[in-house]
Amino acid sequence: MAQSASSLDRASMPIADRPLPDLITEIPGPKAREHVKFDEEWTSPSLPRAYPIVPVRGLGMAIEDIDGNLFLDFAAGIAVNSTGHGHPAVVGAIKEQAADLIHYSASDFYLPIYAQTAAAMARIAPMSGKLRTYLGNSGAEAVEVAMKLARHYTGRPYIVGFLGGFHGRTYGAVSLTASKAKYHAGFNPLLPGIYHAPFGKVEDLKWFDDVLFNRLAPANEVAAVVIEPIQGEGGYIVPEDGFLQGLRELCTKHGILLVVDEIQSGAGRTGKMWAIDHWDVEPDILLAAKGIASGMPLSAMVARAEIMEHWGIGAHGSTYGGNPVACAAALATIELLEGGLIDNAAVRGEQAMAGLRTIMGRFPKSVLDVRGKGLMIGIEFADPKLAEEVQWACFQRGLLVLECGKQTVRLCPPLVASASDIDTGIRIFGEAVEAVATHPSEIARQAAAAGAMHEGEVAG
Ligand SMILES: Cc1ncc(COP(=O)(O)O)c(C=O)c1O
Repeated sequence: MAQSASSLDRASMPIADRPLPDLITEIPGPKAREHVKFDEEWTSPSLPRAYPIVPVRGLGMAIEDIDGNLFLDFAAGIAVNSTGHGHPAVVGAIKEQAADLIHYSASDFYLPIYAQTAAAMARIAPMSGKLRTYLGNSGAEAVEVAMKLARHYTGRPYIVGFLGGFHGRTYGAVSLTASKAKYHAGFNPLLPGIYHAPFGKVEDLKWFDDVLFNRLAPANEVAAVVIEPIQGEGGYIVPEDGFLQGLRELCTKHGILLVVDEIQSGAGRTGKMWAIDHWDVEPDILLAAKGIASGMPLSAMVARAEIMEHWGIGAHGSTYGGNPVACAAALATIELLEGGLIDNAAVRGEQAMAGLRTIMGRFPKSVLDVRGKGLMIGIEFADPKLAEEVQWACFQRGLLVLECGKQTVRLCPPLVASASDIDTGIRIFGEAVEAVATHPSEIARQAAAAGAMHEGEVAG
């Protein structure tokens, strides 16, 4: 019945009764265009904005825009809505907690759900032994706190990040970020004492001895190495097997803390709770955010207790960090992840990869690589313009995807995706690639006319 209703009727129907995607206006629609104008008058021009989607409602895999169009969501608000939009268990937990207590700072008071969430995070963290957890509000904030703790615990000044890494946009986090030069432009001097290593190949680990320890900083002055086990914003890059194991050995040998930034790759996205689990490596400190609370602002730093017990009262805290409503969402999310969503991410990821490899086979000149684990998938194109145009062509067809790296489109759908959601998404993606590969100038013209081509302007 949904299929035969007119577009006007469909706009007034519940999301669950409509086909997905379901476009009822031109894209972007009239209200979206008007809203974009309003937004551009009042908001910070620093926000990158991938394309003019104006979301107002969500359900499961669906995002409804301001004009009543339904999009199939393979972007999940930058890899965040792990349990889909409006999961009843998450919404229920949020409502219940909000009715009981919305805020009471865990920094100065003993908030029960804060400690429960800390214990839950320690239970699911990829480390053995006694752990402790610090809860914050955002990914960047978790990165900041890890940098502070690593320096405090080791008494050493240097911190190593990786070329291609992305850790956020606060001063410490952006200093560690090396995915695009624009994040540093105009902001120097950045945090001192940071070096960037090459990422991904076992061979690259030689850099530590040959360059860093030999020429720049003695190993016993390096506090921490901070790494995304699979790089996110830098291009969805999976390291070679042996790279993370080798890095662990190197850190252990020199008493350097291994900090894994699982802010994008964690919370079940790759088909295991943490991406690092694919390589059986134990970090010293784990950073989580994004998907861990289904979209409520929460981040976590989990560390070996011995490390965290080094600092004392007042060394770090936050008024809002570990807000009770965000904690309630996290506890509900963890239950859902362990209750089947992680396994679903693994199976649906295989399905998506198979479909994408077929697309790569059909368009070998346009699609250079398909990579990833679970539902953290990158499709690399032959040049940045192609990636940008495919993102736009997907949007035009009702599929939300997001660029990353220089010329890669990432797929990071909610982990509730069904077999038919993946089939639909991959079919639309294939149609978008075909349109771009066969009529590139036409797609570019449409996108430019909508003012939507901001090459590489996406972050997170
Ligand atoms: C791996 C990683 N670390 C840190 C961050 C920063 O998180 P936030 O934007 O919540 O500050 C991001 C954001 O995209 C990320 O992907």
